[in-house]
Amino acid sequence: KRVAILISGGGSNMVKLVESMTGDHPARAVLVGSNDPAAAGLARAGALGVPTFAIDHRIYKGDRAAFEAALIEPLLAAQPDILCLAGFMRILTPDFVSRFQGRMLNIHPSLLPKYPGLHTHQRAIDAGDAEAGATVHLVTPELDAGPLLGQARVPVLPGDTSDSLAARVLVQEHRLYPQVLRRFAQGDLTPLHLSAA
Ligand code: GRF
Repeated sequence: KRVAILISGGGSNMVKLVESMTGDHPARAVLVGSNDPAAAGLARAGALGVPTFAIDHRIYKGDRAAFEAALIEPLLAAQPDILCLAGFMRILTPDFVSRFQGRMLNIHPSLLPKYPGLHTHQRAIDAGDAEAGATVHLVTPELDAGPLLGQARVPVLPGDTSDSLAARVLVQEHRLYPQVLRRFAQGDLTPLHLSAA
């Protein structure tokens, strides 16, 4: 299976995904793309030997369709079987999603359906939740709402800030996403539930 990954920043989840696709793994990373040419993850992907590209979304000044027309070109050229969003911070239109629906995954830093959208960790802290975590789901046109493929849970601890909670969740994201991708690449859509080791 050919896997393309879209990032917007550091790409720590992308690195873990790329590093997981070795040996008898049924998938290989064929392309990493970003909406930000300065994304640090692009250099990390390059260092791992994965071809990269960037389409600067700021050039398109809110013309989402034009941005996506540029974004989809190198993606289609790579002929991916699976598209993984990993720390990708742009909202994609239903038209773009429809091109990959059923084979497009995203990781979101909350226990969906709680806290779709942004500032998920602060919202969990403010709500007094005892647990937080991350979710890998199939991408559908509705933001952060597709079928669940995996979830990882962590405790919210007294005195947690959004930064301390985010760091705890990120550790679990790095466990969850590679395991979910491997199962998905083998056609196994059984939801995977992890809790902090
Ligand atoms: C992290 O907060 C993660 O929860 C979310 O995007 C952010 C950056 O991830 N998915 P990454 O380091 O770029 O993978």
